[in-house]
Amino acid sequence: MRVICCNDYEEMSRKAAAVIVGQLTVNCGSVLGLATGSTPIGLYQELIDAYNRRAVDFSECVTFNLDEYREIEPSDRNSYHSFMENNFFGRINVRPGNTHMPDGLAPADEACARYEEAIERARGIDIQVLGIGNNGHIGFNEPAADFPVKTHVVELAEETRKANARFFSSLDAVPKSAITMGIGTIMKSRLIILLANGAGKAEILRRALCGPVTPEVPASILRFHNNVLAVVDREASSLL
Ligand code: PGA
Repeated sequence: MRVICCNDYEEMSRKAAAVIVGQLTVNCGSVLGLATGSTPIGLYQELIDAYNRRAVDFSECVTFNLDEYREIEPSDRNSYHSFMENNFFGRINVRPGNTHMPDGLAPADEACARYEEAIERARGIDIQVLGIGNNGHIGFNEPAADFPVKTHVVELAEETRKANARFFSSLDAVPKSAITMGIGTIMKSRLIILLANGAGKAEILRRALCGPVTPEVPASILRFHNNVLAVVDREASSLL
């Protein structure tokens, strides 16, 4: 794993964006795996700025998001569909038919199988962007007894629901389950960019990068991937 320590959130976002712009420059039809949450918002803004400067073209690229809540309408303002539309897709020239999100409304088995098949049909993910949860989750792969391999339905950890309650009217309004790419799905990506910023992520980043590889810290599995770029700010890297 290569760790790129940046001075601040802006530099982290800029460096990660530069890797994605480079990928799309050499292959405009690249397949991007995308994340939601606060962490990648700066990266998306950098990519939008690059698009506005005509430094990058998204018209041929294909995207797959990591996860979506279950039983939430795509049009709900808290759905990850809405997040991606507002923070990225609606502000670049990606084709709506080329963006993929897990279907939180379809029967679970069918939605999971369809998502795995769609990723395979696209010949896999070139660059997967990841944040890291306070409990070490990647996507919505929560700490567990083992590493889930494929796209699956997951009960959200209480800690995750509390962390995400800031976007909802109350904790009760946060969905209790979600559909997420599996750890195996993520690990098949050809390059993984792990982003982390802020002092609040320092301890979990230390456990993921320096502690034992264990499903109790799902992000620790990334140390078995041969092409991970951890792009982190000074605060998040303070305990490495
Ligand atoms: P955050 O979430 O970017 O909002 O900190 C990260 C995650 O839960 O993966």
